[in-house]
Amino acid sequence: MSEINKTMDPISPFPSKIVMSGIRPTGMVHLGNYFGAIRNYVKMQEEFECYFMIADLHSLTTHPDTQTLKSNVRRVLAENIACGLDPEKATFFCQSHVYETSELYLYLNMLAYKGELEKTVTFKDKARQHPENVNAGLLTYPVLQTADIILHRASLVPVGKDQEQHLEMARNFVVRFNHRYGNIFPEPHAFNYQQELIKVPGLDGSGKMSKSENNMATLYFADDDDTIRKKVMKAKTDSGPTEMNAPKPDYIENIFMLMKLVCSDDVIRKFEEDYNQCTIRYGDLKKQLGEDMVNFISPIRQKTNDILANDEYLVEVMKKGAQKSRESAQKTMELVRKAMGLNYF
Ligand code: TRP
Repeated sequence: MSEINKTMDPISPFPSKIVMSGIRPTGMVHLGNYFGAIRNYVKMQEEFECYFMIADLHSLTTHPDTQTLKSNVRRVLAENIACGLDPEKATFFCQSHVYETSELYLYLNMLAYKGELEKTVTFKDKARQHPENVNAGLLTYPVLQTADIILHRASLVPVGKDQEQHLEMARNFVVRFNHRYGNIFPEPHAFNYQQELIKVPGLDGSGKMSKSENNMATLYFADDDDTIRKKVMKAKTDSGPTEMNAPKPDYIENIFMLMKLVCSDDVIRKFEEDYNQCTIRYGDLKKQLGEDMVNFISPIRQKTNDILANDEYLVEVMKKGAQKSRESAQKTMELVRKAMGLNYF
């Protein structure tokens, strides 16, 4: 048994609440990311010790071009900061700057079985989409993700439903590690303030806003004002209800949901009434929604552009993030090497 089990390390195996999450640097930030994730990060950074990471190594599993990656990383950094993520409050860093990640990933790989990795839904999806590039990094994606999380001994992981299987695997790897080498790591769990995550519907009346699917259905923070207006005006509607107080079809319900995100209560109440009275004019509604979306998005876009124009600042943010996250990572890795008995002198 390792020393750690006997003596209890100064760093408790179940530390105060530490939050960790990763952001993929593929694709531009959109309204769905903001209301589904970033807004929660902004709140969490006030209440917890937070590590927010740009998952650039993960993106190499499917996007090996590092030239594109370089500009994507800057954009995602800038967009998240423009949305309120504060590098002074949270540790905001790039995965590839924390070399300790690769070491922990290697150790964890010895605890991950081929069978369980092959069963992962995200792996099967990606293998199907890219049969020409089913690499080992893709297979062990959840192992790398586990390393990201437990490197900071985090237990609270703000992620959406699509990541739940990865977290379940992370817990399995942690249990195996702790069992074999001593209680070092807390078990990570999805954490979203005990609420259902807000799903932002797409403008085409089906599904949610997402980066890969229909571009016209998704509002990006990089969209200019006219593009935003145009996308909103194209949202699916019909000729209006024919009966008073009729239930709303899905695509109309979705438009009202979008209004709730950015419009004032008065505006929403007016259009609800118009709908119930069969006097609603969807053209007017969409004009109003378009303006309110522009008012919401354009300051964030401008802030993003200001940040992107200041490369010195971005480099500063990355360096500071790298330093802070490596400090935390190095502490953990000392415990890990000791627990594993890899300290030969
Ligand atoms: N796999 C996550 C996604 O696709 C990104 C990610 C990488 C992550 N490392 C993480 C999320 C660690 C939470 C914790 O969105």
